[in-house]
Amino acid sequence: FFASVEMAPGDPILGLTEAFVADPRPGKINLGVGIYCDEQGKIPLMKAVRDVEQTLAKAENPRGYLPINGLKAYNELTQQLLFGADSPLLAEGRVATAQTIGGSAALRVAADLLKQTAGAGAGAKIAISNPSWGNHHVVFRTAGFELLEYRYYDKGTHGLDFAGMLEDLGKLEPGTVVLLHACCHNPTGVDLDAAQWQQAIELMKERKLLPFVDAAYQGFDKGLDADATAIRLLAASGIEAFVVANSYSKSFSLYGERVGAISMVGRDRDEAARVLSRIKTTIRSIYSSPAAHGAYLVAGVLGNPELRASWEEELGGMRTRIHEMRAGLVDGLAEAGLPQFDFINRQAGMFSYSGLSKAQVERLREDFAIYALTSGRICVAALNRANLDAVVAAIAAVS
Ligand code: LMR
Repeated sequence: FFASVEMAPGDPILGLTEAFVADPRPGKINLGVGIYCDEQGKIPLMKAVRDVEQTLAKAENPRGYLPINGLKAYNELTQQLLFGADSPLLAEGRVATAQTIGGSAALRVAADLLKQTAGAGAGAKIAISNPSWGNHHVVFRTAGFELLEYRYYDKGTHGLDFAGMLEDLGKLEPGTVVLLHACCHNPTGVDLDAAQWQQAIELMKERKLLPFVDAAYQGFDKGLDADATAIRLLAASGIEAFVVANSYSKSFSLYGERVGAISMVGRDRDEAARVLSRIKTTIRSIYSSPAAHGAYLVAGVLGNPELRASWEEELGGMRTRIHEMRAGLVDGLAEAGLPQFDFINRQAGMFSYSGLSKAQVERLREDFAIYALTSGRICVAALNRANLDAVVAAIAAVS
């Protein structure tokens, strides 16, 4: 049966972690995968999460199934975090939300659903920023979408090619899905400002495109509300429909619990109810219903004012530490005679698109046991005061 099966290539991100784990060299540093580590180089267990976990352990709850679309409180609190507690969209019942197995399942469930419902005009087409998180292409291609690209990153300025982006979006056929990063663009760290979002949203509305926002880093750049600017502007724009996939992997440091959600905004309450019924049949056909533990943790924190305040404070500390590490990297490289890396200070979130070439990244790994993506993406959230000098010295050596 399997004689003709060929070996698949390793995953560019998670496959790199496998290589890192197998590397016997002491002092190795993983700047590949997007995981926030604290000053001690550890993945934090957030205090509010730990408190809820202890309460849950004491309660000794039975382990029944969650509903197909997940925990009700989790879905409601997620909607409030994304759209704002006082969002008219929520009051009007226009948002269909389901808990999913991380942000990846949110993308896949929506992709499968949109593939079934895509208008005959454009078929199932999605435009993805160039570059984007590699798994975006994999998920939508596997779901049967035709992949298109829009210009996004300007290598020359290390910033946004906004004119190119608008030009490319302006050429898309009506009905095309447009994948957008809410904030902390992965891999570039280059985001739109509010005025640019407004302009892009007007264009997408006019051309009858379907905005699909991937929100994996809410709270990692400016704050929970500021990092939801794209979603709030879409909500206020009067656009008929849009989609938001979100993940709590980073903001709750709950990577392995796989906590995410899909939210699809329809024209009215009735449309949202029909969409939700389709989300449920899609989920049932893939994994039946989501895992419970992570959802209880997130809902336990978001639903309790004291724990929520503690979480927000800790998240704020993580954000500040990332900004400090970014500045530390830029300063260190400038001291090493490389002032041209100052653009790293202008990037947002846990990643930096460093501009390092594939050959330089390979030398970092081979000669210095420092792991980065071959695209040059490094995870600045994995830097700390103890490993920063080694990273600076290694980058200087390969530059
Ligand atoms: C990343 O981009 O490193 C993270 O989102 C982890 C992943 O699943 O790729």
